[in-house]
Amino acid sequence: MSTYHIKHLEEYFQVYRKSIRNPELFWSEIAEEHFVWRKKWDTVLEWDFTKPEVKWFEGAQLNITENCIDRHLRVRGDKTAILFEPNDPSEEAQHITYKQLHERVCKFANVLKEQGIEKGDRVCIYLPMIPELAIAVLACARIGAIHSVVFAGFSATALATRINDCDAKMVITSDGSYRGTKTIDLKGIVDEALEQCPRVQTVLVAKRVNSKINMHPDRDQWLQPLLDNAYLDCDPEIMDAEDPLFILYTSGSTGKPKGMMHTTGGYMVYTAYSFKNVFQYQEEDVYWCTADIGWITGHSYIVYGPLANGATTVMFEGIPSYPDFGRFWDIVQKHKVTQFYTAPTAIRALAKENLDYVTNHDLSSLKVLGTVGEPINEEAWHWYNDHVGQKKCPIVDTWWQTETGGILISPIPFATPTKPTYATLPMPGIQPALMDEEGQEIMGNQVDGRLCIKFPWPSMARTIWGNHERYRDTYFSAFKNQYFTGDGALRDEVGYYRITGRVDDVIIVSGHNLGTAPIEDAINEHPAVAESAIVGFPHDVKGNALYGYVILKETGEYRDRNNLSKEINQQITERIGPIAKLDKIQFVPGLPKTRSGKIMRRILRKIASKETENLGDTSTLLNPEVVQQIIDEAL
Ligand code: WTA
Repeated sequence: MSTYHIKHLEEYFQVYRKSIRNPELFWSEIAEEHFVWRKKWDTVLEWDFTKPEVKWFEGAQLNITENCIDRHLRVRGDKTAILFEPNDPSEEAQHITYKQLHERVCKFANVLKEQGIEKGDRVCIYLPMIPELAIAVLACARIGAIHSVVFAGFSATALATRINDCDAKMVITSDGSYRGTKTIDLKGIVDEALEQCPRVQTVLVAKRVNSKINMHPDRDQWLQPLLDNAYLDCDPEIMDAEDPLFILYTSGSTGKPKGMMHTTGGYMVYTAYSFKNVFQYQEEDVYWCTADIGWITGHSYIVYGPLANGATTVMFEGIPSYPDFGRFWDIVQKHKVTQFYTAPTAIRALAKENLDYVTNHDLSSLKVLGTVGEPINEEAWHWYNDHVGQKKCPIVDTWWQTETGGILISPIPFATPTKPTYATLPMPGIQPALMDEEGQEIMGNQVDGRLCIKFPWPSMARTIWGNHERYRDTYFSAFKNQYFTGDGALRDEVGYYRITGRVDDVIIVSGHNLGTAPIEDAINEHPAVAESAIVGFPHDVKGNALYGYVILKETGEYRDRNNLSKEINQQITERIGPIAKLDKIQFVPGLPKTRSGKIMRRILRKIASKETENLGDTSTLLNPEVVQQIIDEAL
């Protein structure tokens, strides 16, 4: 039996049982055999979910880039580590070998040092999907700086909030980015954000689009000349296993975004192990995850997990619709991609287009297909299976979160029989529980409840940056001694899990987590708006779209509603980013509220989804009459 690489179902069950019987032994064997440590740990695991405190491999020392790069140099130095596919298909792809990656990361790391970045400093990375993004991430890890990557689709305000929350000293960006036919002025967004970030000392600017930008003389520097002059070698900083590796922001149901903090040793072990098994990765494979490195999927399964296994990982700068809807399949054919990992929203969007875009490509290199980010509906699953996988590629429906660091529930391809819309079985070491509303665990099969995890795993986030109390309240207070995921799930007759969706006020739109509160805050800042509430409703491509109910101040009553709607969406774009725009905006005289003043989102969700027959009891509302008014004017 191989613990590290599971190949069939019986082996999965054996490994799983072993991982539950003695988790410490299980993880320490994997950690010891498959990674380079500068010093071994004193204890494998210490944990207490009430504090909460979780520590893996305490006392151990390592550098994650030594594991992701240096140790591969001897055996696979000339193998492609990062395969960069540019936005424009006529621009040549770049094959960055492990040797070249080593050189580029070392040079970048030396630049960071020369610019005064030290171990523990926070560096904000706001870059498009170009090689410099992965290299910047690794360069930070090389010297022990904590990277905070912000997805380059966020607005200036959202960027500023994230920079200030973790007190970043430096921002790494580019002159611009390409997205299909569009060019986006990233540096302009950074300039605007930094008006609110007095503590940022340095901005490094990578050249990508060759646009004319403003360089602030005391603050901004072009990256390339600094790299050209940097030393070739940079010894990895020796880190404790529990030293922070990165912060990554995710939306919460209330207030400002949560800076999830991940640490070094456990994160490395878990992402590498899960990558190997979930994608059945083999030495000659070409693996491609279409996510952006600005999200956790990109951190764990474009950068760290694949590189820790010495894999070839594709980085794609563009979008699935440019130059046409066959672009994904072009890339699969061109680079002979073996594992392809994407989001249901992309599958649904492509399934709407002419099937010729798929069938006129040779996809025979594919072995495993994956999805992540939101529930996949049955129709999309079958389309993916029939046309992309040609019924010979298992689909891994991988459930996990920014907070979990790595995939927790997923089939192991060629081992776990798949079932459409089911994430199936927990990964080794993962102990899921379904809880009822009274806080009791629901035992047995054919049940549903709130999804919790009852035992720590190595890659779980350790805290919310600067706010441990919020970490405890959000994840460890709903159910005693459990990590609460915020998701609902059901367990079928054989014990397979199906994730049914969020049970809190997070809405997933096109695979992106959006909290209701920050969007409502953005709407309420409009001078004509008195109050607002947003809910999700089903959308055939995005999964969910946003429906906003807006109460106007008296002064707003007389204004043109179409213009107001546009202004509200403009406001959201500026505060958060275009991903949070509302599909529908209904101006209402009031919002249904409980006697304690809480908005009854359940009712608003039903109205937005056109399910008004069964609204439940509305008589206890403070203002029941408003419900019928909203229904009558629903969009
Ligand atoms: C949802 C993305 C159903 C879920 C890695 C979770 C999923 C949230 C799946 C985390 C899946 C993710 N099936 N739902 N396979 N994968 N989700 O933090 O609601 O961006 O809580 O991490 O996405 O989103 P996040």
